[in-house]
Amino acid sequence: MSETTEKLVACLTQDRKKYTTPCFVYSVSQFERNYRDLKKALGTPLIYSMKSNSCLDLIVRCGHVFEDGIEIASIGELNSLASGDGPRFINNPSADKNFIRAAIASKCTVVIDNLAQLDLVAEFVGKRPIRPIMLRLNHDVLSEFSPQSARIKANHFGMDWQDAKKALEVCQASDIQVAGFHVFKGSQSFPTCAMDTLAASKQIIAAFEQLLAYPISKVNLGGGFDSSWREYDFDFEQYRSALNELPEHIQVMHESGRGIAASAGYYLTQVRYVKSVNEQHYAICDGGMAQNFLLAKTETPFRRYEIPTLISALGEESKSDGSENAQDTPCLLVGTSCNKDDVFGSVKGQLPQPGDLALFKNCGAYHASYTVSPFLTLPPAQAYLME
Ligand SMILES: Cc1ncc(COP(=O)(O)O)c(C=O)c1O
Repeated sequence: MSETTEKLVACLTQDRKKYTTPCFVYSVSQFERNYRDLKKALGTPLIYSMKSNSCLDLIVRCGHVFEDGIEIASIGELNSLASGDGPRFINNPSADKNFIRAAIASKCTVVIDNLAQLDLVAEFVGKRPIRPIMLRLNHDVLSEFSPQSARIKANHFGMDWQDAKKALEVCQASDIQVAGFHVFKGSQSFPTCAMDTLAASKQIIAAFEQLLAYPISKVNLGGGFDSSWREYDFDFEQYRSALNELPEHIQVMHESGRGIAASAGYYLTQVRYVKSVNEQHYAICDGGMAQNFLLAKTETPFRRYEIPTLISALGEESKSDGSENAQDTPCLLVGTSCNKDDVFGSVKGQLPQPGDLALFKNCGAYHASYTVSPFLTLPPAQAYLME
């Protein structure tokens, strides 16, 4: 159990009513540590992806660590950070004219996903100052420049090389400055794709500069880290030296949501009732998929539910790691949404009791932000900060 988890469990054991459930608890110090450690491991500026956790209290509190910028994916996110003065990048294939106008007005760097978005930017040339844009390249461009690049599933993000070349022509013709390009191979792709991405990027930089006839200044190599990036079998030192092989005038950046936010967040819910149906035990909790959609694992073909730490109503914490087999069949934790898929945790070894708290770790990224909430007008999860 990490030090932060131990601290939270101790705090809840002492004061079970400290937080109103269901809720997320975010550790400010863990969030900042993740950001700093990842940035140090990479040796480059690191941009925070707000979509992973858009809790404003947390972002404002940790704002001082985001010196390299924040990636914003919607006008809602932009509006909530409208007054921020650090670098901001907007990036979404669906960004429309309103979003692009607002981004330009608030001095964001626009990451262009497609030619139609570039035409929208061109409409603002001469009317508003526009920061040099970045072109988002589809991951397949990496394979075009470096055929050994790990193949990943096709997706709709960014431009293929044909469109990227057209985009550079449009920029030349419309007097839009190009800062560089952005590639993102997908979540959790870093250990397998990082070296190939670097090799391809070196050649893409040369191709951009040849087509534009001026040097570009920035390359965003994406990210793709999960919460366990410290344990990767990946030589960060070797990666940092390989980064030095890129031209010196290029500022290389990385971008992460999960790698920074995931391990800094916890989900806490309370058991309301316990029952059995044909010998299957269920603990019915005050929050489930309506507050934390990802825990229900509906997007995974073989669901292996997470095992929470139980903080007993009697005050004794139990580590439900399956080792004490007081009951053979796991007790499933279910939520409030009247949906048969609203099963979000599993406890083996000890039958939970009404009033017990179930604490899930690694819920800091996407668990709150990627959740369907209006169903049944159920209450949203509260968010609390801890040190
Ligand atoms: C362009 C871009 N950058 C960054 C991210 C963040 O990914 P992660 O949270 O896995 O680091 C995403 C995720 O969708 C993305 O599309």
